[in-house]
Amino acid sequence: MKTTAIILAAGKGKRMRSDVPKQYLEVSGKPLLFYSIKAFEDSCVDEIMIVMDDVKYGKEQIVNRFGFKKVVNIIVGGKERYHSVYCGLNAAKGSDYVLIHDGARPFITKQQIEVLLAETYQAGACVSGMPVKDTIKIADKRNQVKETPNRDDVWMVQTPQVFSYSLIKNAYDRFMEDDRKEVTDDAMVLEKYGSHSVKLVKTSYRNIKITTPEDILIAEAFIQSELYH
Ligand code: CTP
Ligand code: MG
Repeated sequence: MKTTAIILAAGKGKRMRSDVPKQYLEVSGKPLLFYSIKAFEDSCVDEIMIVMDDVKYGKEQIVNRFGFKKVVNIIVGGKERYHSVYCGLNAAKGSDYVLIHDGARPFITKQQIEVLLAETYQAGACVSGMPVKDTIKIADKRNQVKETPNRDDVWMVQTPQVFSYSLIKNAYDRFMEDDRKEVTDDAMVLEKYGSHSVKLVKTSYRNIKITTPEDILIAEAFIQSELYH
């Protein structure tokens, strides 16, 4: 059973408003991307592929600098996130399971990765997430409340999203042929273009995505606190 982590680190990080893309920003002395790769390197995953535009930086400043042994490929990404995922999926041909992860989520842990994989061996498709803490309202176009879903049924989803390779690859092949690209995560590709159910698996409220400048402060605080270790 071959398992491949596809770590996404292409894209421009526009909402971070920094000179360099956010994945290269140093957080507590290491590039943001280091933290998620370390968790996968320490886990039972067989191999890691990084999707990023600056392949030279990836080789020198990530793989060589930190001595990662499981990184087998650094792949150039695409314009949108789904293009980058598709580049990764094509490169991961021959794998049985893929774990698609945002390099901008540094706080995923080895244990969470292993639980997700074990669940995916049973379920075929698993998405990490957490139940929402706030009450969620569904609005209409005029910002009038249409509905208040039961909070226990509402989750915010994160990555890793873990799939049997053939399930997600077949769904992505169909999605890439469609002119309309209305999906916001990988599970949604399977929900719309496949016929397999997706299981939600809890990770942690710490598994945040570094998106805007204040998230860097939160990340530094996590790393320096014992919550991280
Ligand atoms: N990503 C990618 N290829 C893209 C866009 C995004 O690999 N074309 C990756 C990012 O590196 C990130 C993850 O997908 O790890 C989640 O995307 P997001 O946080 O939205 O990153 P960006 O698109 O770079 O940021 P922004 O939307 O603020 O421009
Ligand atoms: Mg984006």
